[in-house]
Amino acid sequence: MITPQWLENAVFYNIYPQSFYDSNGDGIGDLNGITEKLNYIKDMGFTAIWLNPIYESPYRDGGYDVTDFYKVGKRYGTNADFERLCAVAHQKGIKVCVDLVAGHTSLECEWFQKSCRAEKNEYTNRYVWTDNWLNIYNGECIGGYAQRNGAYMKNFFYCQPALNYGFANIDEPSWQLPPEHPDCRKTKQELINIMEYWISLGADGFRVDLAASLIKNDYDGKAIIKFWQEIRTMFDEKYPECVLISEWSHPSRAITAGFHIDFLIHAVFPAYTSLFRAEDERNVPRIFFGDSFFDTRGKGNIETFLNDYLDEYEKTRDRGFISIPTGNHDLARISYGRTNEELEAIFAFIMTMPGIPFVYYGDEIGMEYIPDMPSKEGGFTRTGSRTPMQWEQGKNAGFSDGEKELLYLPVNENGVNVKEQLSDENSLLNKVKKLIALRKTTPALSACGDIEFLNRKDGGYPLVYKRIFNDETYLICINPSNDDKKFEMELYADMIMKNGNVEISERGIVLGAVSYAILKLK
Ligand code: NOJ
Repeated sequence: MITPQWLENAVFYNIYPQSFYDSNGDGIGDLNGITEKLNYIKDMGFTAIWLNPIYESPYRDGGYDVTDFYKVGKRYGTNADFERLCAVAHQKGIKVCVDLVAGHTSLECEWFQKSCRAEKNEYTNRYVWTDNWLNIYNGECIGGYAQRNGAYMKNFFYCQPALNYGFANIDEPSWQLPPEHPDCRKTKQELINIMEYWISLGADGFRVDLAASLIKNDYDGKAIIKFWQEIRTMFDEKYPECVLISEWSHPSRAITAGFHIDFLIHAVFPAYTSLFRAEDERNVPRIFFGDSFFDTRGKGNIETFLNDYLDEYEKTRDRGFISIPTGNHDLARISYGRTNEELEAIFAFIMTMPGIPFVYYGDEIGMEYIPDMPSKEGGFTRTGSRTPMQWEQGKNAGFSDGEKELLYLPVNENGVNVKEQLSDENSLLNKVKKLIALRKTTPALSACGDIEFLNRKDGGYPLVYKRIFNDETYLICINPSNDDKKFEMELYADMIMKNGNVEISERGIVLGAVSYAILKLK
């Protein structure tokens, strides 16, 4: 398998397009707005962007309900704008990855409308339908919608009918088709056509939504692994510089399936949750509940993370990358209930781990999570993480020239913002920028360097690990808690970067409340 070289130094920026920058005053972020902000993205040190869906959609799930996979949604601009965004990004050395909503469409998609018809047509089997209108198959299917007999299977919300890639294990043969069925192969071919189309416009890769969900009743994941392996083979042959990124949260499966990167989030195991988000399991954000490791109370336990992480890391190293993102459009923002010092310690961790960091737009300034916002476009508790980017003080925080009522979501005009942080050397933004630069110029800290965790006692406080590449070894020590923590070891090192009170001696390191140090061992 071929790994594009650019991944080794990659740091991604995840952009929710409708909330990033509005270039035409209609209150909604757009592609030309992103193009205008590429200098900022480059200046921060990001090397690639992942855009949440930009397709035509009725937006009942923020655009994860697509009507036309070949068309940029009107509110974001045109396909030509996308081509221009890619061209300008490429000139600046930035790669552009788009979201591929592979498992479902919107109800309004023409394919689905045709699939609903009673008479047989090309799209009859494009979606999963039971053969009896009363059979809602364990509650997975929605009845009462179509002219045809039967109920359609949903993939997420009711308005996201599942595309038909077949069933790995068939328990109702009257309507479940195997993945090799020609109609299921056609669905897959369409997916490939969509990918090739966006690559032809300039895309460098895809973040695949619910990547493990496509084949149904696939209990051991073998069928979906085979499914994606075929696509990876095609990528290696035709598009060796393009990348596949999965929302799978099971790196050993996803990377075996051919994905270059898999996110470590909360879908399969609690590793990610236990680091930062014990307080928002099930997406109900609460500040003082749960025991995240990165929490000033210091009551978490790094073992919950390490048990899963190290196993997955060993199984996947040299074949693909695990990503620990700062957040995304589905999670309460990482800043929620945290100070800038705490956030900086988290960034120090994320920017010194193997694999590939992803930063959700606004996290670099500690943008606020806004709790209890009325749901917008199927966002529910996620809505508060999707508010417009805060560029500067004043009108609409510099996000848009439009009238307030037009804005996609209310903007926090008095919150943190980019402009102020750019001019403050000690701002979170500038610290993040330095951490990114350090990562990119230090092979031991890059995607491929080795890692060794040194302190697994007492919950793992302080967190101490080595990153190693050839004859260079770095030591990263992080104390997320409010108490002093010390770690004894024979230590001869140069201090490379730190925050908070840190003392090093030949006998070890003492870290004051919420502090970190990155050292180069002699
Ligand atoms: C995961 C996406 O990240 C989320 O926003 C979306 O609602 C579901 N998949 C369904 O597409």
